[in-house]
Amino acid sequence: MAYRSPLLNVMTAAALKAAKGLVRDFGELEQLQVSVSKKGPADFVSRADHRSESVLRAELTKARPTYGLLMEESGLHPGSDTSNRWVVDPLDGTTNFLHGIPHFSISIALERDGEPYAGVIYSPIPDEMFVAEKGTGAFLNGRRLRVSGRRNVEEALFATGIPFLGLANHGLFLRQLGAVMAVSSGVRRYGSAALDLAWVAAGRYDGFWENGLNAWDIAAGIVLVREAGGFVSDLAGGRKMFTGGGVLASNTALHESLIGLVAQASPHPAAAS
Ligand code: IPD
Ligand code: CA
Ligand code: CA
Repeated sequence: MAYRSPLLNVMTAAALKAAKGLVRDFGELEQLQVSVSKKGPADFVSRADHRSESVLRAELTKARPTYGLLMEESGLHPGSDTSNRWVVDPLDGTTNFLHGIPHFSISIALERDGEPYAGVIYSPIPDEMFVAEKGTGAFLNGRRLRVSGRRNVEEALFATGIPFLGLANHGLFLRQLGAVMAVSSGVRRYGSAALDLAWVAAGRYDGFWENGLNAWDIAAGIVLVREAGGFVSDLAGGRKMFTGGGVLASNTALHESLIGLVAQASPHPAAAS
């Protein structure tokens, strides 16, 4: 069993505790789906999401009382320690969860002095725990991770997120998809951005891009990809991942090619650095 630092122990313990509730709720949802209208399951999932967030907040605060938190559902909770902040998505892949698709995750990052420092992404149904801490590598269930070694776009498998009802940029996304799918081995959309990044770190995907994600979707995944030897930037190759520039991650060999393909689809560079 690989050594895990006290910090990663805190993060994984919190994720496992919150995941217990999510797994129970995911099971119960199957019963609900058959018997009630759409609103029933959606409300149920929203409660599951909030319960997960409460458990994570309680556990992380118990372990590190001075740290602040940025949580998807309840927002900002400032701490007296201004260097360290948890950035948390209590349920990433909500739409999958709602539809009974077992691809969802809990994402916890520690941001230190404004930079992602440690990340834990837990996918409860396959029981996959992805962890990374700056300078110490990335691991999946104790096994060291490396990004893929593929160098050619023609052999590469990419992941992305497709904008849905209520989001902007549908036309831009279609142009990006057109550029990438025409020259690569394929493009996947599995519905959890946190896991998309974790899977890039694991070498399952050769790259990932998505427009307009939030800090809680990507902070943990950024640490994982970097610690697995990969590269993360905004869509234009800059550092505006947390300020609307989108996110693009891959191994170093493919990074420039993916930026080029995505940029080719954008009339205005998404984020100049
Ligand atoms: C969503 C997922 C999805 C991405 C969306 C996110 P949520 O997060 O990460 O893959 O395409 O943009 O909002 O709502 O399930 O936490
Ligand atoms: Ca999310
Ligand atoms: Ca969420």
